[in-house]
Amino acid sequence: MKVIYPGSFDPLTYGHIDIIERCLERFDDVVVAVLNNQLKKGLFSVSERIELIKNHYKNNSKLKIVSFEGLLVDFCKREQIQIVVRGIRNIQDFEFESQLARLNKALYHDMETFFLFSESEFSYVSSSFIKDIASFGGDVSKFVPQNVEKALENKYRGGK
Ligand code: PNS
Repeated sequence: MKVIYPGSFDPLTYGHIDIIERCLERFDDVVVAVLNNQLKKGLFSVSERIELIKNHYKNNSKLKIVSFEGLLVDFCKREQIQIVVRGIRNIQDFEFESQLARLNKALYHDMETFFLFSESEFSYVSSSFIKDIASFGGDVSKFVPQNVEKALENKYRGGK
């Protein structure tokens, strides 16, 4: 079975990694798809985000890391993927994700969303908060792998 795990991944966190690992244990092929949103520039460019994920997962043949533009359902139709995986951390995620899942299904009836509840230790981890902490020089080592920690340090403290 092939699944897609889409997101912004700006940057990769242990919360994302928890979901990716659980997918790798259960599905044959896992596509991590980084949204390339022209209207919303992140801290990291899409290619930097992809590199950070690739560096963490060196040579896992079940894992493919790609970027996509436009509607997720259009990308899934092209790639013949019918299962989206999303993580749920809290009630806010549940509300947002249930709407997204139903919209995706309304746009493409064969599309199913499988939800994984994040492990509680990652339930408060988000890329936005991590960027905030890193921007003020806080310790993010509990929340992101070392390569991401270094990349954040370079973004915020590069040249200092
Ligand atoms: O990591 P995020 O930012 O929570 O991921 C959100 C994402 C990328 C899954 C979602 O915004 C998305 O699928 N965007 C692509 C455009 C789209 O298909 N929107 C849904 C229909 S309105």
